[in-house]
Amino acid sequence: METFDVLVIGGGPAGYVAAIRAAQLGFSVGCVDAFTRNGKPSLGGTCLNVGCIPSKAMLDSSEKYEMIGHEAAEHGITVTGLQADIATMLGRKNSVVDKLTGGIAFLFKKNKIKSFHGLGKLVRQEDGGWVVDAAGSEVKAKNVIVATGSNPRSLPMAPFGGNIVENSGALEFDKVPETLGVIGAGVIGVELGSVWRRLGAQVTVLEALPGFLLPADAAVSKEALKQLQKQGLDFHFSVNITDVKDNGNNVTVKYEEGGNSVEATFDKLIVSIGRVPNTQGLGAEQVGLSLDERGFVKIDEHYRTNLPGVYAIGDVVGGAMLAHKAEDEGVAVAERIAGQAGHVNYATIPWIIYTSPEIAWVGLTEKAAQEQGFTVKTGQFPFSANGRALGHGDPRGFVKVVADAATDRVLGVHMVGPNVSELIAEVVSLMEFGGSAEDLGRTIHGHPTLTEAVKEAALAVNKQAIHM
Ligand code: FAD
Ligand code: NAI
Repeated sequence: METFDVLVIGGGPAGYVAAIRAAQLGFSVGCVDAFTRNGKPSLGGTCLNVGCIPSKAMLDSSEKYEMIGHEAAEHGITVTGLQADIATMLGRKNSVVDKLTGGIAFLFKKNKIKSFHGLGKLVRQEDGGWVVDAAGSEVKAKNVIVATGSNPRSLPMAPFGGNIVENSGALEFDKVPETLGVIGAGVIGVELGSVWRRLGAQVTVLEALPGFLLPADAAVSKEALKQLQKQGLDFHFSVNITDVKDNGNNVTVKYEEGGNSVEATFDKLIVSIGRVPNTQGLGAEQVGLSLDERGFVKIDEHYRTNLPGVYAIGDVVGGAMLAHKAEDEGVAVAERIAGQAGHVNYATIPWIIYTSPEIAWVGLTEKAAQEQGFTVKTGQFPFSANGRALGHGDPRGFVKVVADAATDRVLGVHMVGPNVSELIAEVVSLMEFGGSAEDLGRTIHGHPTLTEAVKEAALAVNKQAIHM
């Protein structure tokens, strides 16, 4: 029987990173992954195949289309005959995915990681390790890392299929739906809703909660909602979905809103109401792997499950369902198995939403900081006072820094505006080092750059912003 020091089940951002780091640490490593794309094995999990990467490719294409159609004129560029060729757009998105998923296969070869395509199933404990069914052949592993990810949650009354789609389907519409319904105003709802709105769909977003993006800082969610509504996304909050019916050529959704019963018909319906852990086919029940009441694999602070030598990471253990969180857990668990002190700082995980304007934050919101007993001081700086943002033609939004009034330590930074997906990295580093608003404000930033808005917001914490 083939034997490995480490066998990883799942080849998404959690699993493939754990496999590579384990190989770097000198372990013999196998990885079994079940993802199939266009009939072929495709490493990279949800993120590379049907998540982060293809959604960002479509966001970029649709943003360029909108920019050329609506904003180029302001720069003195006149365009006529503008058309969106959806087949080419999807083809480009697919080729980006091919490149990256192929890249993981290359990295596996480079790191001498044996790849199995199919399901991985825990079979039995043997000789202090585990026998795992890796895509039909039994292999032995001293350590097993479960990284089986998550699947979209469906509404019981609206199973996926036909015109009712989850993320994969919403990245594959072969023509722009005239009307698009989205259930759930979360991250997928606003990102994929934005893609199809930019390409011409009339988009209606139905959300159960009373407000938009409630985990974000209130100032950010208010500004982001204002901007998205201005673009034409039609949001409805405090909505109770009562019935969904796929009529073959369209979908009817019945819901209650403000005491009224409403019926709406859409060409397509995206259901994006969160994701559920994926432990199907893993053999969890047979071997007694402990799951919590929501189906997430239970782990301790070192990613150990209740089974000796079995670890779990990524979406399947819950917490922030983000690729970078999954990747960092992949590194940490491999280092733990090697007896090192790998760990993840959950207090500095950035959240980024790739709408236009982009939304990004890290750390505590102003409200959460107050609830935790901090006396808080904040500084905010608008992109409308930043030269580079004005040059770009996109001065929407702001940067807000939340700091501890007693120590000046930065507790959180919240942004909505151009390229904030990139700007957030600086403050993540600052917070990793326990930096203060003064540290950030006195750090020299290139001119003219968007990063100067971060510096100015930090200066504003102590009322020292120069350009405001
Ligand atoms: P997954 O990526 O789900 O990978 C798990 C893998 O395990 C899959 O390949 C699956 O087929 C395989 N598997 C499952 N069970 C078995 C088994 N028994 N045997 C063998 N293989 C198995 N996050 C971000 O940080 N940034 C983004 O921009 C972002 N955008 C997203 C956009 C969309 C539309 C979606 C849906 C998600 C997005 N995410 C984003 C979230 C991100 O994709 C996930 O957090 C990330 O993929 C989790 O990684 P993972 O390795 O834990 O799981
Ligand atoms: P989400 O958790 O972000 O949002 C789901 C929304 O649906 C919530 O606002 C919730 O209140 C609402 N909802 C739940 N049940 C409902 C119902 N019955 N009727 C109406 N609304 C309902 O989940 P989403 O958008 O599905 O994305 C899943 C996860 O994927 C995200 O939480 C995130 O972790 C990850 N992701 C990350 C991205 C990024 O980092 N840029 C992009 C896309 C996804």
